[in-house]
Amino acid sequence: MKSMKLAAAALALMLLGEIKAQVFGIQTDQIHRPKIHFTPRQGWMNDPNGMVFHNGVYHLFYQHNPDASVWGPMHWGHAVSKDMIDWKHEPIALYPDSLGTIFSGSAVVDLNNTSGLAPKGKVPLVAVFTYHNQALADKGRNDFQTQGIAYSIDNGATWQKYKGNPVLKNPGIRDFRDPKVMWHAATGRWVMTLAVLDRIYFYSSPNLKDWKKESEFGKDAGAHGGVWECPDLFPMQVEGKTIWTLLVNLNPGGPNKGSATQYFLGSFDGHRFSPLSNQTNWLDYGPDEYAGVTWSNTGSRRLFIGWMSNWMYANQVPTETWRSACTIPRELRLVKLGAGYRLASMPVNELNKYNQKPLVYNYPNVSKGLSLGAASVAALPCRIDLDMSLETCAFTIFNENEEEVKVGYDKQTGNYFIDRTRAGKSYFHKEFAARHTSPRHTSSKKLRMTLIIDVASVELFADGGLTTMTSLFFPTISFNKLSFQSDISPISINYATLKPLE
Ligand code: FRU
Repeated sequence: MKSMKLAAAALALMLLGEIKAQVFGIQTDQIHRPKIHFTPRQGWMNDPNGMVFHNGVYHLFYQHNPDASVWGPMHWGHAVSKDMIDWKHEPIALYPDSLGTIFSGSAVVDLNNTSGLAPKGKVPLVAVFTYHNQALADKGRNDFQTQGIAYSIDNGATWQKYKGNPVLKNPGIRDFRDPKVMWHAATGRWVMTLAVLDRIYFYSSPNLKDWKKESEFGKDAGAHGGVWECPDLFPMQVEGKTIWTLLVNLNPGGPNKGSATQYFLGSFDGHRFSPLSNQTNWLDYGPDEYAGVTWSNTGSRRLFIGWMSNWMYANQVPTETWRSACTIPRELRLVKLGAGYRLASMPVNELNKYNQKPLVYNYPNVSKGLSLGAASVAALPCRIDLDMSLETCAFTIFNENEEEVKVGYDKQTGNYFIDRTRAGKSYFHKEFAARHTSPRHTSSKKLRMTLIIDVASVELFADGGLTTMTSLFFPTISFNKLSFQSDISPISINYATLKPLE
């Protein structure tokens, strides 16, 4: 039997003023409310929407039901931030109207006022979203989703719906939603990427109001275990080349069940997307990153954020007055790997500002077991960075109730894993208590892992973000201890640091 020896140990995270177990009510709510991840003040949240950077401010809109903590009539909630970490709640931006509730979409800075929605000389922000008309759906009609626009001429503070909505009618297809709009400089037009059943349709427009269909993509490409939703299309630079990235969220059919984000790499000429390959690529292998898309108007940076949940159990997770969080915002980059490329994601650098003094300093060339420093005291959330030789190893996050989450690498299978089979509450869904795995995407002999651990989630960024996994957990009392094991000794650690985030 392969027993994990404790090759070193003990970063004990003693949470200040430990919160005692409370199984119901607000208290439970609060022990599960993330500290450095965005959550709605109250009520339900799903997809991040319409993210746009304008005048030094990051806008985050999100699918929101303000009246209940389950999915329902969708609004666009709104928050603003200077760094994507510290968010200020704003009034709801878009309310349902006679055309429907407000499903997912995007927002752009219409720099040249091509839409004519702003008075001369002003720059409108334009949101492009899906109207979902439940009354039509209930009548058995198929054309209940259409695309509408709204605009702001006060830098995103208030929004007006365009009187000529919908700007794109439904041709009679039940799943016809989640427009992501970008300016395509080479053709001098706006391009809309739309999720339609399990395909992508591309449209173009000179003015954000009149849309013409250009092409379809997806019949023979990628994963089709469910409906395609929340797409995104953007160019990325790698080694002097431009490669277009098409993100496509999929529900269900993800690599670890339920919903997940896949992507394609290829070229785009303003009309048609041509993939380099039809294979399926996953942006995040964990169960709890979905509907992830990127901010508009961020220049050469490509900034991504996802919804940190899974449609399998999102409505049932054990919080009461609010539900769901966003992932840590991540910066994407393309990495050349052999003959192909892979999208890598790492937490945005803005997060570094929240690092507290590292509890464990660099240990150059530790070769006798792993010596991370004993009984360090910290509080969640925290960030861990580890760089060592490629060996089986795992971090265990645990508490006095014998609940734990393990995150690590298994050399035998070559997989990363997050094991939440004994992580506390899982009664709300039979698939929740599970061990999830991801293949490794490099043959490097070095193992690098960055973990962002908050009170109800862990995000693993391995090998510089070539593998990413996001996982929720709901312990009955807060996790307040951390240990590290490897079944190899000695083990060669280049560095290991733990930084509380605050
Ligand atoms: C994705 C999604 C979108 C839709 C929205 C509704 O999670 O299903 O396709 O616009 O959520 O809230």
